[in-house]
Amino acid sequence: MHIAIVGSGYVGLVSGACFAEMGMNVTCIDIDEKKVSNLNKGIIPIYEPGLEEMIIRNKNDERISFTTDLTSCINNMEVVFIAVGTPPNEDGSADLKHVLTVAHTVGRSMNKYMVIVTKSTVPVGTSFKVRKVIQAELDKRNLDIEFDIVSNPEFLKEGVAIKDFMSPDRVVVGVESEKAKQIMSKLYRPFLLNNFRVIFMDVPSSEMTKYAANAMLATRISFMNDIANLCELVGANVDMVRKGIGSDLRIGNKFLYPGSGYGGSCFPKDVKALIHTGKENGYNMRVIKAVEEVNEIQKKIVFEKLKKLFNGDLKDKMVAIWGLSFKPDTDDMREAPSLVVIESLLKEKANVIVYDPVAMNECKRLIGDKVIYAKDMYEATVDVDALLLLTEWKQFRMPSWKVVKKAMKGNVVIDGRNIYDEFELQREGLILKGIGRG
Ligand SMILES: NC(=O)c1ccc[n+]([C@@H]2O[C@H](COP(=O)([O-])OP(=O)(O)OC[C@H]3O[C@@H](n4cnc5c(N)ncnc54)[C@H](O)[C@@H]3O)[C@@H](O)[C@H]2O)c1
Repeated sequence: MHIAIVGSGYVGLVSGACFAEMGMNVTCIDIDEKKVSNLNKGIIPIYEPGLEEMIIRNKNDERISFTTDLTSCINNMEVVFIAVGTPPNEDGSADLKHVLTVAHTVGRSMNKYMVIVTKSTVPVGTSFKVRKVIQAELDKRNLDIEFDIVSNPEFLKEGVAIKDFMSPDRVVVGVESEKAKQIMSKLYRPFLLNNFRVIFMDVPSSEMTKYAANAMLATRISFMNDIANLCELVGANVDMVRKGIGSDLRIGNKFLYPGSGYGGSCFPKDVKALIHTGKENGYNMRVIKAVEEVNEIQKKIVFEKLKKLFNGDLKDKMVAIWGLSFKPDTDDMREAPSLVVIESLLKEKANVIVYDPVAMNECKRLIGDKVIYAKDMYEATVDVDALLLLTEWKQFRMPSWKVVKKAMKGNVVIDGRNIYDEFELQREGLILKGIGRG
């Protein structure tokens, strides 16, 4: 089976590599010439555990290739996946220009039946827009070609994307024809040999499922952050409360961790887009609006705690940050809480030194030399007044507090992910503040 994946970002590359791993013939297409040229040299543009090896292996076996030219290869394809970005517009709605550009190219160049799959996260109605654009292009060429549109939102998590794609909890597919359903079944069967977990549904429901899933997960995080903030005021410990409620099977223990707010390329933009879809349809999405409001405040919580500890004066203070990516095992810093904390610190005229195992280059690309870049996690703590933990990378989980205390000038540690033990730090003469530990 020959398939095209248009868009070689986190989703496109992982999907492409995994389909190739299962024996499919995959062509990855991207408009970014540098990215494609690097991929052809075996240079992978993103950090995702296991991805590099998988791409190189399948490239050597000629099951995956990279090009900027969709037009010239499209008629070899049975299926074309659209996996381009859908960033937020100013008003919070999803920007569909990349998705629709691909639809135009498909319509202008296809000469035979194929299935066009929207894998990007798109608001309800977008796959129908894709169909309209393709049909209009075919009409311009006086061609009567049958094609199918399918919605197949992606649920992979950055950091464990390969595992998620190779063994998904479920695959959601919105289809309109039996023919497309058969083709999509054939595509996903190798991933789900033991238990075929593809949920077929209509296209709008499939598109909505993705937003509802992300909105639900974001809600759990904001809910726990609200509970954590209240715990502090009333003298309760949110770590205990989390365990207490997470053991209830109706609630479950996932996504109940308070912290410095959710970030990344999905939750913030998808929550905004869902609010916007509500507005467009005359419906006020009250719960999800509150989720977003809590998150905006929570992104600043570590900074506010620090400021309070220094009696409102952070001028010329030296502050170290451990962790820049929005979560561990990725270099993705889109909407990362670290960016908000850094910006707030710099506004107060504090000096900032940072360390992250993989996101240092991404940070340099985004904010340049506004901060100092340490060579390792301990170098970041030398002569600093305070240390902030923002991303719970494994290497930050059990540091030598002796070494840290010796290196630091001050003694304040703020744990934005609640992974440290207060007594352990106290023993070394450090003061620890977490989230929701009253
Ligand atoms: N990143 C995630 O964890 C994740 C998870 C699930 C769903 N999604 C969704 O998947 C989509 C892609 O996300 P991503 O994180 O992979 O984005 P990304 O920004 O990492 O990659 C998008 C790629 O598309 C390319 N592109 C843009 N226009 C193009 C065009 N006309 N032709 C060819 N290539 C083009 C860009 O150059 C870029 O390389 C988004 O809608 C996102 O919401 C992302």
